[in-house]
Amino acid sequence: MLLLVRGSLLLLLLLLCCRTAHCVYKIPLKIFSPGSFSSSSAGLQLQAPKPNQTAPRSALSLASDQSGAVNFLDMVNNLKGDSGRGYYMEMVIGTPGQTLNILVDTGSSNFAVAAAPHPYIATYFNRAQSSTYQTSGRSVSVRYTQGNWEGELGTDLITIPHGPNGTITINIAAILTSDDFFLPGINWQGILGAGPDPSVEPFFNSLVLQTGIPDVFSLQMCGAGLSISTASEPAGGSLIMGGAEPTLYQGSVWYTPILQEWYYQVEVLKLEVADQNLSLDCKEYNTDKAIVDSGTTLLRLPVKVFNAVVEAISQMSLVQDFSSGFFAGTKLACWVKGESPWRFFPKISIYLRGTNSSQSFRLTVFPQLYIQPVTDLDGTLNCFRFGISSSTNGLVIGATVMEGFYVVFDRAQKRVGFAVSSCAEMNGVPVAEIAGPFPADGACIGTFPLQEPLLWIIAYSLMGVCALVLLILLILLVVPCRCRYPDAEITDQSSLVRHRIK
Ligand SMILES: *[C@@H]1O[C@H](CO)[C@@H](O)[C@H](O)[C@H]1NC(C)=O
Ligand SMILES: *[C@@H]1O[C@H](CO)[C@@H](O)[C@H](O)[C@H]1NC(C)=O
Ligand SMILES: *[C@@H]1O[C@H](CO)[C@@H](O)[C@H](O)[C@H]1NC(C)=O
Ligand SMILES: *[C@@H]1O[C@H](CO)[C@@H](O)[C@H](O)[C@H]1NC(C)=O
Repeated sequence: MLLLVRGSLLLLLLLLCCRTAHCVYKIPLKIFSPGSFSSSSAGLQLQAPKPNQTAPRSALSLASDQSGAVNFLDMVNNLKGDSGRGYYMEMVIGTPGQTLNILVDTGSSNFAVAAAPHPYIATYFNRAQSSTYQTSGRSVSVRYTQGNWEGELGTDLITIPHGPNGTITINIAAILTSDDFFLPGINWQGILGAGPDPSVEPFFNSLVLQTGIPDVFSLQMCGAGLSISTASEPAGGSLIMGGAEPTLYQGSVWYTPILQEWYYQVEVLKLEVADQNLSLDCKEYNTDKAIVDSGTTLLRLPVKVFNAVVEAISQMSLVQDFSSGFFAGTKLACWVKGESPWRFFPKISIYLRGTNSSQSFRLTVFPQLYIQPVTDLDGTLNCFRFGISSSTNGLVIGATVMEGFYVVFDRAQKRVGFAVSSCAEMNGVPVAEIAGPFPADGACIGTFPLQEPLLWIIAYSLMGVCALVLLILLILLVVPCRCRYPDAEITDQSSLVRHRIK
């Protein structure tokens, strides 16, 4: 509240000082803290099943396929939300059914729902009122870089009103306590981690096994160009379970291999700002990994890459003396209503390796996707934020980019596909493009830098010393207090909850 009032006062002052239409106003934005991530990568391909071509039947069943077991059209528009607060889907949990909104997050793997009241959520899953809920007696805790929750593992029946027919039994983490996980303004009460997990059978695996749908899901998020803080009319989207729905995209689907399955990790080969190659070693793009994450709001870039992108944008954008606070995410840029800032900014392209590893394709996002409307303060100004942030643990293709594309998570064939989304347009003008094939060179995945035999010897010696130290630590710490941590602890590095605007 206080912040808003101060913002308005500042704006008034700025308005008084600076009345020309081209003036850039800046106000402080209450900003999320920089998150962090971790891990590493390799590989690629491409290909393009057109709606009427025969796609690999084993993996994709198309809506136009009458014999298909699933009717994808029933799932169109089953999501609501926006990039800032996430896209969620309605699910019915337990017997009798309790309806909750569940956030879709490809960057994590737990299916977890609120199981106790919390000030920021309207409802929760009441286990005592479900006759089919079974507890495992195991407790579970998940920590995000920002935010965490603790709860209990159990199983129950669920149905998805706008999903595949049938009732399935799934693992549920019942959230009993949490910090910074449920935030003001959200309209969901649980999270569907759509990534794999080694310790508990994840939601999507259960869904595939029990309903017999193909091991593929695809996502369309339609928040491009909509103000992030306009809560009254949330944007829509679709989570198609079992395949890809041809009416949700245009042109071909281009595929890149999934390198590491616990994140949807891909290999980024090159970045261009206004068609100009950034002069960076391509390994920088994949340090320490590059992932596709619907639960991350922004396009997140490793620090070196981020700095190069900001420099290129600053040089190319026609806006003079643009505040660095805007690029750092601490300030909004506001234009007088009616002025559009987008023509001042260049387009950005991300090259991914194709499934044929000597080829690549590129995703191009227009400024409409990464210069994002946040709010229209007092009706006279349109304010925008920078939809790209720096990251200390890898590149994340988050909602900023995903809102331009229909993204197919083809788990069966270990590849992620991209096509131009049918909702990636503003006033009839496309805001995303996809093109290829382009030639692709050598690997951009970081490799262990030691080549010399001597260095290997040193490395192994150090590892030996470390092992010894670890052993001693284990004896000192674990043995005397074996019973201190009886519960499984699953760590989850989804940045989902870390990069929402609120
Ligand atoms: C694809 O469309 C073309 C032209 O619309 C048609 O000639 C062809 O038979 C179609 N292919 C299949 C497999 O349906
Ligand atoms: C579920 O079954 C009904 C009736 O058989 C059918 O009309 C509907 O399309 C099915 N939904 C899905 C998602 O397959
Ligand atoms: C892009 O720039 C980097 C560094 O200057 C260079 O190594 C790479 O070959 C360039 N890529 C292309 C496709 O021009
Ligand atoms: C892969 O791409 C290269 C270069 O475009 C091409 O020569 C080769 O035939 C392709 N391989 C396959 C299996 O399609």
